[in-house]
Amino acid sequence: MLEKLKAQKRYSKDRWYQMRTAHELKRKFLSSSFIITAIAFFFVTFFTVTTASSEDVANSCIHCHSNPAFRITNKKLYKYFRDWDLSIHALEKVTCVDCHGGNPKSTDKKKAHGEDIQQLLTPVKYDRISVTCGKCHEENAKNYKKSKHYMTLTAKGGSSRLTPTCVTCHSSINTSIPKPDDIADICTSCHNPVTENHPEVPEFAGYLIERLSFINYYTRYLISKGVMEKDPQFSKTINEEFSGLSQVWHTLELERIEEKTRQIRTMLLKRRKELDDVE
Ligand code: HEC
Ligand code: HEC
Ligand code: HEC
Ligand code: HEC
Ligand code: HEC
Repeated sequence: MLEKLKAQKRYSKDRWYQMRTAHELKRKFLSSSFIITAIAFFFVTFFTVTTASSEDVANSCIHCHSNPAFRITNKKLYKYFRDWDLSIHALEKVTCVDCHGGNPKSTDKKKAHGEDIQQLLTPVKYDRISVTCGKCHEENAKNYKKSKHYMTLTAKGGSSRLTPTCVTCHSSINTSIPKPDDIADICTSCHNPVTENHPEVPEFAGYLIERLSFINYYTRYLISKGVMEKDPQFSKTINEEFSGLSQVWHTLELERIEEKTRQIRTMLLKRRKELDDVE
């Protein structure tokens, strides 16, 4: 699906982009000043009026949900907008409708949301999230579904938050990629001596992610030496190994991840040694 969407150029720069820029200006302006409550209320009224009077919108969900008034009147609602707005999805024009559904042409809240608000919430229910994300990230979702986590989640009837899903590791809808320290923190919330649920996991996972950074470092080194350019076959192999690694990662079979990491590292180090021997 990802490829199809890209081919359709659905996410090309359009009017929506200009709208985004306008919102960014508003946001910069708002965040750069120390707003005392009185001024904040002035803006609330001001933006409420401008938002409501505008008919020309490319995507009504974004248009309405980005209203800075929600910073004060509905913080939780605004946080979701912000998480999305600062994510790679916003840049790639993956918008609210792609995950929630609804009618982005209507500026009327009821019509945009549809008859039943549950319809917007069902695709993001905890046990449905991997399906929704999997519409575009097929491989990640397929491999995640092989993990013990997904099995536990579905075995418990699905609604349990006792096991992680996509948003647990990718910062809700912010889609950030976890760093070594973040990963250890995420895993520790469930894997620790108190829960007695595989307490060795966080350290191991942190170590593996660190290994990934090493691989990145060696790859960059070889790129800087022109190796990838001179040897397209080697470059292709490393690329494939890399995406394979990300897939294995989503099964969370830690021993397999370690083995795969070691293989790639050996390949890269061998190349580096050959290079050093020549020089
Ligand atoms: C005219 C303003 C407006 C438009 C247009 C709009 N929304 Fe909303 N939305 C709101 C407000 C306000 C809320 C807070 C709950 C309420 O007041 O109904 C909300 C709530 C939500 C919720 C959370 C519901 C809940 O019960 O937790 C979701 C999800 C949502 N909107 C998604 C969308 C999507 C997707 C679109 C576009 C198809 C959209 N909204 C269009 C104003 C709007
Ligand atoms: C990539 C998919 C994706 C996109 C794009 C997306 N959301 Fe969501 N949204 C989710 C998921 C998944 C959750 C549940 C998150 C969680 O449980 O931490 C969620 C939760 C929410 C909630 C809270 C619902 C509740 O439980 O009360 C609101 C409100 C919301 N989104 C609004 C929006 C708006 C507005 C946009 C567009 C500006 C948007 N979302 C874009 C996937 C998405
Ligand atoms: C409509 C398609 C679509 C849906 C649905 C979708 N994504 Fe994405 N996602 C993309 C696109 C496009 C990118 C840009 C990068 C790329 O080409 O892979 C991306 C990138 C990402 C990245 C990579 C960030 C990086 O720095 O490499 C993560 C993580 C991610 N998405 C997580 C999620 C999660 C979690 C969900 C579900 C809540 C989700 N996505 C739903 C289209 C989608
Ligand atoms: C247990 C934590 C965890 C869970 C659960 C998880 N991810 Fe990831 N994800 C990661 C980590 C860590 C990386 C970085 C791995 C790497 O660099 O190879 C990553 C990388 C990604 C990427 C970018 C690299 C790529 O393969 O394109 C995408 C997209 C992604 N995840 C989507 C998802 C989706 C969709 C789900 C749910 C079906 C999910 N993730 C579940 C931890 C997780
Ligand atoms: C929300 C809670 C939660 C989080 C967060 C979490 N896990 Fe788990 N994990 C579980 C549960 C529950 C099980 C199943 C325990 C069992 O039945 O043996 C599990 C099992 C596992 C297993 C054992 C799989 C097997 O084959 O026995 C591994 C490995 C694992 N998790 C790795 C991780 C890693 C790595 C992270 C962090 C990126 C993580 N988990 C984050 C709840 C969690």
